[in-house]
Amino acid sequence: MISDRKLEHLLICENYDVSFKNKTNGFEDIELIHNVLPEIDKQEIDLSTSTFGKKLDSPLFITAITGGHPAAKEINKQLAIAAENNNIALGVGSQRAACEHPELEDTYTVVRENAPNCLLVGNIGAPQLNLAEKAVEILDADILAIHLNPLQESIQPEGDLDARGYLDLISQITNSVNIPIIAKETGCGISAESAEALVEAGVDFIDIEGAGGTSWAAVETYRAEDRYLGEIFWDWGIPTAVSTVEVTNAIDVPVISSGGIRSGLEAAKAIALGADAVGMALPFLKNSTSQEQLNKFISRFNESLRIAMFLVGASNIDELKESKLVIRGKTREWLNERGINTKNYSRR
Ligand code: FNR
Repeated sequence: MISDRKLEHLLICENYDVSFKNKTNGFEDIELIHNVLPEIDKQEIDLSTSTFGKKLDSPLFITAITGGHPAAKEINKQLAIAAENNNIALGVGSQRAACEHPELEDTYTVVRENAPNCLLVGNIGAPQLNLAEKAVEILDADILAIHLNPLQESIQPEGDLDARGYLDLISQITNSVNIPIIAKETGCGISAESAEALVEAGVDFIDIEGAGGTSWAAVETYRAEDRYLGEIFWDWGIPTAVSTVEVTNAIDVPVISSGGIRSGLEAAKAIALGADAVGMALPFLKNSTSQEQLNKFISRFNESLRIAMFLVGASNIDELKESKLVIRGKTREWLNERGINTKNYSRR
């Protein structure tokens, strides 16, 4: 049953090592250029963004984590209170279980109850076209995310393996729902070509969810009877820094960079590469044990982003997006192979 699967995902992510083994998010290859004369007041640096429809105090999304099991209710409540108090965006996990089992609805309605003003992001899979409106209504969502996760489905014992017609389904969802739509991966990233197709289908925002953080092949490996396939594909995917450059070069819609982002410094690099915001999932789950933990985590993130902005002389997110940077190593190799001129970033 879906609800049991949701609990297993939480328990595995909380208790086992689900990180990529030999692949990183690629941000170690990105160097912002130190400015010894920032000529700005650090105290006045503005982290806010209004790109996603509501003003956020920091360009930070708590990306989809949970819901659909009684154990998820308390986690969603804690995340909602923290998101509301810090005025950041919050996504919930797949709403399929609650749309099909009304007794699980309160694991999602608890979010709006505790975050009346927050930018909330609902979540469904592309095949759940018929559940889209219901998902938006249950959450009182501002944005609906459609997750795309062919690797997870391949390793998951009960996976959805017929991926034909997804673009058509996505295009139907964008037409049937009257709020903006995010297309997101879950840890394998999105290529330039896929991003172009998604935007063509009417998607309003792209959430990268690249490789280098939580590996969903890993999560499903712990659930599988035979670990063989999961072990082989554990590290599959486009590193987040690479995917961020591919996507922001290919399309003009706002982009959330995510998948293994763990600090404000990595966030600054992602935004300088062209993202409009960043997202994190696993660190928020791990810090959801108390408001104190969550507030500390968010304020540390904000402070490390602010220091990075000070050190490049960027007083707001738009200026950070224009900051010069150098792309090195494997990330440059990949991007050059794909026809992207990495010098454009160092000589802006
Ligand atoms: C997730 N993620 C996720 N994504 C989604 O679109 N629908 C979902 O239901 C879930 N469920 C879920 C449960 C748990 C426990 C975690 C930790 C994550 C994926 C998540 O949004 C994100 O894409 C990846 O986890 C990669 O980001 P991090 O964890 O490396 O920051």
